[in-house]
Amino acid sequence: MNVLGIETSCDETSAAVYAARPDGAGDLKSNVVASQVDLHARFGGVVPELSARAHVERLPAIVAEALSRAGCAFCDVDAVAVTSRPGLLSALLAGVSYARGLAIALDRPVYAVDHVKAHVAAAFLPASPETPEFQPLAPGDLPALAMVASGGHTVLLKMNGPTAFDVLGTTRDDAVGEAFDKVGHLLGLPFPGGPEIERAAAGGDPDAFSFPIGVIRGHPLDFSFSGLKTAVLYAMAKLPARARRRRVADLAASFQKAAIAALVRRAVAAGRETQIRAFVLCGGVAANHALRAAMSAALATEGARLTVPPVRYCGDTAAQVARFAAFQIAEGAPPADPGLDACATSELFALQ
Ligand code: KG4
Ligand code: ZN
Repeated sequence: MNVLGIETSCDETSAAVYAARPDGAGDLKSNVVASQVDLHARFGGVVPELSARAHVERLPAIVAEALSRAGCAFCDVDAVAVTSRPGLLSALLAGVSYARGLAIALDRPVYAVDHVKAHVAAAFLPASPETPEFQPLAPGDLPALAMVASGGHTVLLKMNGPTAFDVLGTTRDDAVGEAFDKVGHLLGLPFPGGPEIERAAAGGDPDAFSFPIGVIRGHPLDFSFSGLKTAVLYAMAKLPARARRRRVADLAASFQKAAIAALVRRAVAAGRETQIRAFVLCGGVAANHALRAAMSAALATEGARLTVPPVRYCGDTAAQVARFAAFQIAEGAPPADPGLDACATSELFALQ
């Protein structure tokens, strides 16, 4: 069956067609992503109202493009899947309203997908000619541990099944991607800071500054990034104004080293605690090559196998939304109520 995925939780408008077999495995026929980075760059962050308006304007063309690249017409769509939570409420509502309307018009079911869980589903997307080295995770590899490292979340999960998770740890303040973006801003780098810091760090000394790794006493699998961010601010304040620009690469490299160490430390600790040897790293920050390399090396030492989606499937895409919905359908999960609403928080935290 052809699942049409729709993603509008933040600043990417995306639609994808995934052709699923009854067990959920299948082919990704198309995945179209329209970034709004240019729209928000001059504000230094995502402006929710602008984001929602841009989704409303762009969705019809993005969906048409996804269908056309997949060689499908609307009548070939068997199910619609949409990110309904978590994210910017007005942005989510743009996608949810569109998906509801389309499902009614086509007389097809609509599946509600949680964005955090969908990031993990990217690990199950098939390898393609553009990503031949990628070895996807298989349901038979579960249970697995999964770390979602994004702009909105930093969460460590135990994946009991492709759609069933326990939360082992989460951030107490900033998400790691948020810390990258805020430190990027402090360093005078363009928005979004994550990829800019990675670029700047490549020319810097990661040992130039010693930055702290946030620890939550009594909760070794939880994260904290606000202290690290403040440490970068203080380190900058101590530098003579003229030296700041010259030290951007060193500050970026030292910050990145500490942020990566915080993630790797929790991954190793969770593996030891649960004795689970399969690990997924996903979410926008998983695009960071230094993080991918550090996580892979640390988990190899622990005898664990790391699966990281190809860089193009680490950020927000509808491919992962459709892939997650294919699991829901295979498991016999009911479609969403026609009155489906959006919600700003993840289901994962509602259960705690
Ligand atoms: O998953 P995502 O696209 O959106 C959310 O669900 O939040 O993650 C976006 C985050 C942003 O904070 C962005 O700066 C960060 O991922 N990011 C990176 C890199 N590419 C994107 N962080 C570090 N290094 C990168 N290469
Ligand atoms: Zn995301």
